[in-house]
Amino acid sequence: MPVTPEPISRSTPEADLESSVSWQTTLSLFLAAVLGAALALWILPHWLPALFSDIAAQKAYWHLARSSGIVAYLLLWVSTALGLLITNRMARAWPGGPTTFDLHQFASLLALGFTAFHAIILLGDEYIGYTFLQILIPFAATGYKPVATALGQIAFYLAAIISFSFYVRNRIGRRAWRTLHYASFLIFLLITVHGLFAGTDTATLWPLYLASAASILFLTLYRILITRIQKPHFTHTPKRSTR
Ligand code: HEM
Repeated sequence: MPVTPEPISRSTPEADLESSVSWQTTLSLFLAAVLGAALALWILPHWLPALFSDIAAQKAYWHLARSSGIVAYLLLWVSTALGLLITNRMARAWPGGPTTFDLHQFASLLALGFTAFHAIILLGDEYIGYTFLQILIPFAATGYKPVATALGQIAFYLAAIISFSFYVRNRIGRRAWRTLHYASFLIFLLITVHGLFAGTDTATLWPLYLASAASILFLTLYRILITRIQKPHFTHTPKRSTR
């Protein structure tokens, strides 16, 4: 029996998905990360001076900055991959569009929190010696790897814009929102270069950067191919002869 092909939906699969994370939750998560960093930087050293009096404290800030940077990177990788799984429709097989969408959003919001912590906790690292303004403004810091650091800062601002744009999606229009989302590819590129060139652990972490970049490339190519294959083909019907 001939199998009738499923009609191709022309609406994008993500267009109808709704967020289950309110902007208040997003803001609380972000503020919690900032407060956590402030607590580690200013309150704990005053509260427990003995613990923070020696060189171990310096190393603690360094370790905290590196580990939170790596967690932020992993989360942004996962978030980018999940976003692609939605648009290339692989997520339909498992675990389903809405679940993937929620995971995608949670991962990107958590990444923002970890990145805020990653940047602020660097204020405790005397070797790097950043000021608060240098943390905020790309290229303002000239001491420690300024270009590689600036790429991370730009990625953070772009990621924040994309994550928060969800809450104004209906105002700016879905088309503009989707166009904005294309910056995710740039963000992934920026954080990969940032991690590779700013980090202390590049020598041991390069397999992670390689694997993550390869997986994003694969999912992107798959998405491009699937979009081309699923585009409705308009066959040329020759005009009937008037003979
Ligand atoms: C989405 C944004 C960001 C991500 C995913 C990210 C991720 C990372 C990763 C994975 C590392 C490498 C850790 C290592 O190998 O030791 C790193 C290092 C670093 N990041 Fe970021 N980062 C981001 C934003 C920022 C921002 C906003 C700053 C602001 C100043 C910053 C400053 C640094 C510095 C100075 C290092 C070197 C730390 C060290 O190894 O001593 N990053 N980051």
